[in-house]
Amino acid sequence: MKELRTDFLGVKLSSPLVLPAGVLDISFSSYKLVSGYGAGLITTKSLTKEARKGHEGPVVTEVEGGMLNCMGLCNPGIFEGLEEIKRFREISNVPVNLSIFATDAEGFTELAKEANSSKADFLELNLSCPNVSDEFGVPLAASEKTVAEIISSVKSVCRLPVIAKLSPNVTSFTRVALAAADAGADALCMINTLGPGIDIDIEAGRPVLFNVSGGLSGPCIKPIALRLVYESRKAGITIPIIGMGGITSGEDAVQMLMAGADLVGVGTAVYYRGPEVFEKINDEILSFLERKDYHFISDIKRII
Ligand SMILES: Cc1cc2nc3c(=O)[nH]c(=O)nc-3n(C[C@H](O)[C@H](O)[C@H](O)COP(=O)(O)O)c2cc1C
Repeated sequence: MKELRTDFLGVKLSSPLVLPAGVLDISFSSYKLVSGYGAGLITTKSLTKEARKGHEGPVVTEVEGGMLNCMGLCNPGIFEGLEEIKRFREISNVPVNLSIFATDAEGFTELAKEANSSKADFLELNLSCPNVSDEFGVPLAASEKTVAEIISSVKSVCRLPVIAKLSPNVTSFTRVALAAADAGADALCMINTLGPGIDIDIEAGRPVLFNVSGGLSGPCIKPIALRLVYESRKAGITIPIIGMGGITSGEDAVQMLMAGADLVGVGTAVYYRGPEVFEKINDEILSFLERKDYHFISDIKRII
């Protein structure tokens, strides 16, 4: 018997595959669709206190080996987001990871208090926002001190396990990862989109995205995602890691587990292989377990 079931922070998941933040909308029907296809954990779009319209389109463009997006964190606000989670959890046992987004520790803490009375199972902090109080606008996730401050403050009020989602666009990624773990994060999620980058329409003579630049995701970022997970483990991170960035096939997912992840996010691949991608990758992982005569996901974790 081959077994995809895995334990994450004391919660049983039917599969190690995770829907990452923001790749689909925040509706009950999207959660139902991907959980029906075998996602083991659903992450919401990052929710802010008030609704946000996001950027003007085009907000997404396909580039070689991936995708650029500048959604601008459009979302209906935390209260509507929590309602959708409640509707979903009434009909499904698949756990939900609530992603929140703010510009400082106070904002994150205020949102974390709302999460306490929600039906979410985990709270994920999207730390990729530029630090508004920094004169160069470096992301919150670039500063060990800021990351530690946000996590300690959220942990002091939140009853849910807290997952820190890190940005790859920093100079000392593993130091930030260690700071997040030391500050009490229960797990880490890596990586958010890379860049940003731009694409240019040469006929129109202008950038393809209305906002000019956008975050890069998809297969072209996989080698970097694998390295950052691997280096985090080498640097001494022992808490669980949700690894993501370009995972599109069972082989990619196995690579991410071998690099040191406990769970594997499948984001941009939903655009390439449809929502059925979760079922397909689950089957591909099972075939790998069969071929190698392994039994559990834990048999392939951190193998390198
Ligand atoms: C259209 C789109 C929207 C995204 N929105 C969010 C978001 O709201 N919050 C967040 O933390 N990450 C967001 N991400 C980043 C993904 O969650 C993920 O970290 C990244 O895309 C890498 O994984 P992938 O290559 O499998 O897509 C978004 C990515 C895409 C493509």
